Amino acid sequence: MSSTIRQGRVPVAVLISGRGSNMMALVEAARAADYPAEIVTVISNRPDAAGLEWARAQGIATAVVDHAAFANRAEFDAALHKALLAHGAELVACAGFMRIMTEDFVSQWEGRMINIHPSLLPSFKGLHPHARALEAGVRIAGCTVHYVISEVDAGPIIAQGAVSVLPQDTAQSLAARIVKVEHRIYPLALKLVAGGDAPLIDGRVALKINGDTHTTFTNLAWFHTTD
Ligand code: GRF
Repeated sequence: MSSTIRQGRVPVAVLISGRGSNMMALVEAARAADYPAEIVTVISNRPDAAGLEWARAQGIATAVVDHAAFANRAEFDAALHKALLAHGAELVACAGFMRIMTEDFVSQWEGRMINIHPSLLPSFKGLHPHARALEAGVRIAGCTVHYVISEVDAGPIIAQGAVSVLPQDTAQSLAARIVKVEHRIYPLALKLVAGGDAPLIDGRVALKINGDTHTTFTNLAWFHTTD
């Protein structure tokens, strides 16, 4: 485990595959004195992920577990699991991590691995959610932070954020508007999870707000913005 971890903070690994703007938002949020998580490592399945360089420049340990070097998903996941343990991670935040995980791997991190997806789940799971939202003609789009289960983009929802869909939107402009909201709700969701305030109990997210525990199927946070 990293010797620089501040006392009482949960060590978190962030998994990325590309630019890493959500990872950056988590790292920035974790600088706050009262944030309950510490980003101890950033791990990518792609050696060329742009986010790696940024993380290194912040003094964060990075690792590459290159999926292309493994014969199958199970072997890749085993190597990833080993890397997570080697860095002392207790929680995993997937942030634009473009790999489907095996059931074994997911069950090893059950209740301790979260993901962000740029749609209002359960709509538009999987690839190209922005283009599919436009195609469907929805008037509100957004993003979701959820616990990871073996079915892709289907785990219990922790937080959601919404934006208006504008008449002139393209997939790119919609994605640019949504990602700003991602950068708000992901740090909030990680804070709740790391602080023990949004545990996964019996397949549902039990929110602890003002000391009370509520079981909810729906959103934690809702930001509606036309920025
Ligand atoms: C984000 O929109 C995330 O929700 C999705 O992929 C994108 C990754 O962006 N899964 P970044 O790498 O965090 O900038």
